[in-house]
Amino acid sequence: MSDELQPDQATPATNGKLALEVRGVTKRFGALEVLRGIDLSLHQGEVLGLVGDNGAGKSTLVKILSGFHPQDGGDLLIEGQRVGLSSVGSARAHGIETVYQDLALIPQLPVYQNLFLGHELTRFGPLRILDKAQMRKLSRQYLDDIHVNVPSVDADSDQLSGGQRQAIAVARAVRVATKILLLDEPLAAMGARESRLIIDLVKDLASSGRVSIIVIDHNFAHLFELCDRLLVLQGGRITVERQVHETSLEELTELMVSSYRAQLEAVSEAGA
Ligand SMILES: Nc1ncnc2c1ncn2[C@@H]1O[C@H](COP(=O)(O)OP(=O)(O)O)[C@@H](O)[C@H]1O
Ligand SMILES: [Mg+2]
Repeated sequence: MSDELQPDQATPATNGKLALEVRGVTKRFGALEVLRGIDLSLHQGEVLGLVGDNGAGKSTLVKILSGFHPQDGGDLLIEGQRVGLSSVGSARAHGIETVYQDLALIPQLPVYQNLFLGHELTRFGPLRILDKAQMRKLSRQYLDDIHVNVPSVDADSDQLSGGQRQAIAVARAVRVATKILLLDEPLAAMGARESRLIIDLVKDLASSGRVSIIVIDHNFAHLFELCDRLLVLQGGRITVERQVHETSLEELTELMVSSYRAQLEAVSEAGA
């Protein structure tokens, strides 16, 4: 049987081909049903924003897409082919890179090793030893290019501020992502200057069109600047979908509030 897909309708910023499709994905933790059937498509070159209350399941969805958690049901397709993402390594091998909300960097490793995590440079030779000098040099250059300040690329990442750690994690993922980049609240710990740098970095990557991006952020203004399309996740399902150019901050806020109200009413009716 063929896994070939008919592409959805094209969104303006993309070529109409799908980078990723999520079909009917479910996930529970014990008695807690977190995802109740998630369907979404991510077009090649598209930036898709995901919003929803705390506990809505956004990070859980990202962790399924990055191979960190297995889903209980449903399918994942990359470029039309059904895939099983059994580990973070297997997702990486499919070109998926992730910045997690809760585990951005490895604290005991220096900045330059975090920047090359999973994509280390080695020197030719019988032992294929790590080329630390080259990784240090390229790290310094890269961070200077994108104007991210760190005291030293040799500093352990637990010596950095939360915002600096997030900036390094995003810089790493942007550098190595080949198909899909997942960003789970990448700006949460950042000040205004760092946020601006990172938004510009992600926008540069997006405008290259070579990578598709899913970004979670509570700040609608960030999402309106970065995204082509927005999805709202509530009660384990996608409840709202809007092209950014067809909506506004006001409408999105109103949609979220009214769909939240409908959900509360459904719950209280079920309990009555
Ligand atoms: N590993 C886990 N074990 C048990 N419950 C979890 C786990 N991860 C998340 N949850 C629960 O699943 C729900 C969704 O969490 P999460 O995906 O982090 O939401 P969001 O990112 O939208 O805030 C929450 O109620 C959370 O407590
Ligand atoms: Mg989260």
